[in-house]
Amino acid sequence: MLTVAVLISGAGSNLRALLEAASAPGFPARVIAVGADREADGFAHAEHFGIPTFLVPFGAFASREEWGAELGAQLAVWNPDLVVLSGMMRLLPADLVAEWEPRIINTHPAYLPEFPGAHGVRDALAAGVDQTGASVIVVDSGVDTGPILAQERIPVLPGDDEDSLHERIKPVERRLLIDVVRRIAEGELDLAATASRTA
Ligand code: GAR
Repeated sequence: MLTVAVLISGAGSNLRALLEAASAPGFPARVIAVGADREADGFAHAEHFGIPTFLVPFGAFASREEWGAELGAQLAVWNPDLVVLSGMMRLLPADLVAEWEPRIINTHPAYLPEFPGAHGVRDALAAGVDQTGASVIVVDSGVDTGPILAQERIPVLPGDDEDSLHERIKPVERRLLIDVVRRIAEGELDLAATASRTA
């Protein structure tokens, strides 16, 4: 059984979907802990499923590196097989990424390498494209530059705003994330091989 720690910053709707999938009989992974950089609303989903949570408030540390060191210490307590960033809106310091890479993945609401960064949905709308997408990637030391594990196109519709487009992207992200976690757990997707192919 693959053990997973999930890091969030916000509503945690993708976390919720993963928790639901992982609670189904036969799913080969389970979430063992949920962490956040702030008092995230998504903690409620972890509590609903009886999953332990840990909070490492970004603002309580003098630097990103110190925050990352504490986050790393918390992750080490749980020692998961896989770390999933699911709406974690802070860049992790390079040494923390290096410690977990390639066993650390991220969901992103755009068709990478298009529109990386914190505003993938807004940036796609601003660019006036007629399609964007959803991606699941391995986290590396860049901003959304790691190997792509799964992605799918999603049309931008006339009249879309950031909320409406993001709400259409999220269900696709959830499906891709659950499928990637399942494929990793079943050995169908080898993260080490994926990372070395693209290095
Ligand atoms: C998701 O769309 C996720 O891909 C995005 O934040 C949202 C979190 O939603 N992450 C990024 O943009 C990272 N660059 P949720 O909290 O409801 O799951």
